[in-house]
Amino acid sequence: MKPPLIRPRRLRATPAFRRLASETRLHPAELILPMFVREGTDQPVPIASMPGVVQHTLDSARRAVADAAEAGIGGVMLFGVPAQRDAIGSGATDENGILNVATRALVEEVGDALVVQTDLCLDEFTDHGHCGVLAADGHVDNDATLERYRDMALAQAAAGSQLLGLSGMMDGQTAAVREVLDDNGFQDTAVLAYSAKYASAYYGPFREAVDSALTGDRRAYQLNPGNRREGLREALLDIDEGADIVMVKPAGSYLDVLSDVAAASDIPVWAYQVSGEYAMIEAAAANGWIDRRRTIEESVLGIRRAGADAVLTYWAVELADWLGGAQ
Ligand code: PBG
Repeated sequence: MKPPLIRPRRLRATPAFRRLASETRLHPAELILPMFVREGTDQPVPIASMPGVVQHTLDSARRAVADAAEAGIGGVMLFGVPAQRDAIGSGATDENGILNVATRALVEEVGDALVVQTDLCLDEFTDHGHCGVLAADGHVDNDATLERYRDMALAQAAAGSQLLGLSGMMDGQTAAVREVLDDNGFQDTAVLAYSAKYASAYYGPFREAVDSALTGDRRAYQLNPGNRREGLREALLDIDEGADIVMVKPAGSYLDVLSDVAAASDIPVWAYQVSGEYAMIEAAAANGWIDRRRTIEESVLGIRRAGADAVLTYWAVELADWLGGAQ
């Protein structure tokens, strides 16, 4: 037998070669930290299913966002955990609602050191836990919800959010929010469309993180996990409606969709490594079954390799620190 003529292993032989030949790299600027801020608490509240993640007080959130800026990450995505909920999610549009208060506080804290972003969805604020308002028969009323999203967009933009994360999966939400922003002098507020957001079991721990009141599921508005083409279609619709960035969520089980969207999009494509993805790795690592740091790095690298320009991950700050901080 003749020896092989072609030897791909040459470029893998030494750390220096491997580094030089790497097609994908991680950088702190491409990481976004999701953060939960809880109303009416004076101590951060640990989230049992997400070890290391807490519901922040306003004060602890200020410290955390300063640390995030120090670590050089690209942004934070804020979620509010209100003390009171009602059928229409009034707290979402109240300028004194927890998410809007936290946004003002954190923008004041970090200025332009990173991009302060907000979750634009009603589920944290409704007493039924759905992402929109309900019609008389109990289904989520798409067009009535758009009116609430428009008001929520104005409240968040006024509070200083620089990027609105539309995560509710209502039809027409990107166009509705873009229009109301433009009509009210918020032309410079950007819109991140959670375009391909699947009805996923991986959101389990998040429901604890926001004390969600949801019973049932979101399958009547989030995407069917079996649908690949439809994920791409949703992203293309949001691009047409004026999104500045589109997203695929969850990340790890939807890398094919992410790759499709990345190939077709002419705007940035992000992915959200969600609470269940976090919890699984933390749990396996806590049992000593996998190497925690290597698995975290590989999981985020895989999401970048599939086509994400940036990744929302609960490990954003820790990962940035491993990468050497601001560069
Ligand atoms: C909805 C929203 C959810 C997540 C982010 N935004 C929950 C859902 O749709 O059920 C999940 C994020 C995660 O699991 O980390 N506002």
